[in-house]
Amino acid sequence: MSNILVTGGAGYIGSHTVHQLLERGYNVTVLDDLSTGFRDAVPEARLHICSLFDTEQVTQLLVRQQIDAVVHFAAFIAVGESTKDPEKYFTNNVAGSLSLFSAMAAAEVKKIVFSSTAAVYGNPVSTPIPETAAIAPVNPYGETKATVERVLAWLDQCRGLRSVRLRYFNACGANPEAGLSERHVPETHLIPLLLKAVVTGQPMTIFGTDYPTPDGTCIRDYIHVDDLAKAHIAAIDHLLAGGASEVFNVGTGRGFSVREVLAAVEAVTGKPVPHVFGDRREGDPAELVADSSQLRNRLGWTPEYTELERIVASAWPSEQRRWA
Ligand SMILES: NC(=O)c1ccc[n+]([C@@H]2O[C@H](COP(=O)([O-])OP(=O)(O)OC[C@H]3O[C@@H](n4cnc5c(N)ncnc54)[C@H](O)[C@@H]3O)[C@@H](O)[C@H]2O)c1
Repeated sequence: MSNILVTGGAGYIGSHTVHQLLERGYNVTVLDDLSTGFRDAVPEARLHICSLFDTEQVTQLLVRQQIDAVVHFAAFIAVGESTKDPEKYFTNNVAGSLSLFSAMAAAEVKKIVFSSTAAVYGNPVSTPIPETAAIAPVNPYGETKATVERVLAWLDQCRGLRSVRLRYFNACGANPEAGLSERHVPETHLIPLLLKAVVTGQPMTIFGTDYPTPDGTCIRDYIHVDDLAKAHIAAIDHLLAGGASEVFNVGTGRGFSVREVLAAVEAVTGKPVPHVFGDRREGDPAELVADSSQLRNRLGWTPEYTELERIVASAWPSEQRRWA
């Protein structure tokens, strides 16, 4: 079976992907500096605590483990923080990735799956969004991901580094059977924040009720973390089979409004969500929904979690413990 290095494997999406890779028999090595990840999210023996910036150590790890392909999750992910401290984001997400790519060149590893984001589209002119839509990020976080995508396109041309760049929409849910969950600090994502409000009784603020959507709240495409993990495995298999570089959106293709998510949380928990309404947040587009027909048609991927209540139910056990 192939040897896969997962950077950022001790994080939320990384740990769910590591779990699925192991279940399918891949030989997995995790590289993580634990800056936002958790030691207990991956099997101890797989974890190498190391920064992307330690090019020498990363090169040695790639050579020693005879790595065939890399899945690159390691990055900082908070959009709001990226607007306050852009240097932190360009350094870690862009310079950190460059260090990894140099190590891969030295170790002659020529396949990579990269975590990109719907944030590369900024405020799209229409939705659902195809991969051909304009790349126009509206915050430094999105710009770091768009930049790395462009670097990867050049590395393909100049050096034959084959990449699949996956643009995720709103990652959510958890795999409670595997003991895995979402643990971002601070938490900025909608579903965990709504569940937190249920557990703590502290009201959650809903930003904006006057968007041009049927109920006035923002619409997003919620993609379950296990479906995301499956997309990574499809991408690895494509590259290992000699496939060309590709860019794919990863979403369900169906949007849900904030009010619909709130209703799903109330249905799953059987409790009201304490909430207040606030003004719109700057830079929040009204609607972001993926056209992920390319990923479905070309790699045969299909999301299993298409119902909000199922997604929320998968997160509820861990969120209950987390905020109690
Ligand atoms: N969560 C989402 O909704 C979402 C949406 C779109 C894209 N993404 C992308 O998916 C990836 C994973 O996101 P996540 O939600 O799992 O985040 P996370 O913070 O849970 O995981 C990131 C992991 O990377 C590690 N890391 C960060 N910088 C590192 C470095 N320099 N060296 C080594 N390790 C480092 C962290 O310790 C952490 O374990 C990120 O690249 C993110 O931009 C996430």
